[in-house]
Amino acid sequence: MRILSGIQPSGALHLGNYFGMMRPAIELQSQGEAYYFIANYHSMTTLTDAVERRKNSLDVALDFLACGLDPQKSVFWKQSDGPEVAELTWLLTTVTPMGLLQKCTSYKDKKARLAEDDLDRVNHGLFAYPVLMAADILIFDSNIVPVGRDQKQHVEVTRDIAIKFNHLYGNTFVIPEPQIREEVAVVPGTDGQKMSKSYGNALEIFSEEKALRKKIMGILMDSRTPAEPKPDADRNLAIQLLRLVAPSEIAKDFEERLRAGGLGYGDLKKALFEHCWNYFAPARARRAELAANLDYVHQVLATGAQKAQAVARQVLDRAKKASGLN
Ligand code: TRP
Repeated sequence: MRILSGIQPSGALHLGNYFGMMRPAIELQSQGEAYYFIANYHSMTTLTDAVERRKNSLDVALDFLACGLDPQKSVFWKQSDGPEVAELTWLLTTVTPMGLLQKCTSYKDKKARLAEDDLDRVNHGLFAYPVLMAADILIFDSNIVPVGRDQKQHVEVTRDIAIKFNHLYGNTFVIPEPQIREEVAVVPGTDGQKMSKSYGNALEIFSEEKALRKKIMGILMDSRTPAEPKPDADRNLAIQLLRLVAPSEIAKDFEERLRAGGLGYGDLKKALFEHCWNYFAPARARRAELAANLDYVHQVLATGAQKAQAVARQVLDRAKKASGLN
């Protein structure tokens, strides 16, 4: 069984990315052949700063390896080091109905946001994004695509494109299945909305101690006094986050104390900071080691690209033969 997923290089890793995507991806490594890549071609649809793209891509590599991606188990590479995918995108784009892309909610959302800013930023790549994603998936004969709920539609588009190509040119592509991470709770940000870099409410895992402490101390609370009982303690933002980074008995205990009254928000947040800091201590140490040994990181990505390309070339060749290009 081949498992494939792409990760956008979108800046500093936060708790939402970690619990929503990275940890599940790392757990899946033992369940099949895992193929994970840094989606730097995709990032071009919204980011046009070369220095930032290069930096973000390296950061994702460091984050993933620090958090437990094992290059012995997974194939891990940078998307643009396997350019076959860009060629396959063209083949697929010619069998993709415009209407299929026009329906994509992710495109409609991004378009609405970018158009407010500058209509020229609504580029063709943004529209064609799901076709590149289809090529990513199909070029590796992927069976399972673990993604967040927001990407489910893109995997459905991929299936439609594969079925259409197979129908027109004969059986070429494996039809993939999305694996939606329904069970992972949405991680709340410091303001109670979903944690997201774009909302400015993210707790960054590898930030400096002082900065992280400050962010945690700034988590939104209400104005009830410490003594007041809080029957809604389970919905408290610090409690929700504590459940992710502290042993469950400890999180339960804080929740009970908050419910009963007597626990101040400041003390709760201090505890959250301590647990958060300790939870990521091993990953922080590994990340520092990796950052001091970038040759190793580049080597991992180069080896991954070689393995990925060997598969991609075969599937691209199959598609070229089927469609009469070869
Ligand atoms: N679009 C995905 C996201 O934003 C990233 C991605 C690109 C991807 N190509 C993929 C995910 C292929 C799964 C499979 O999260």
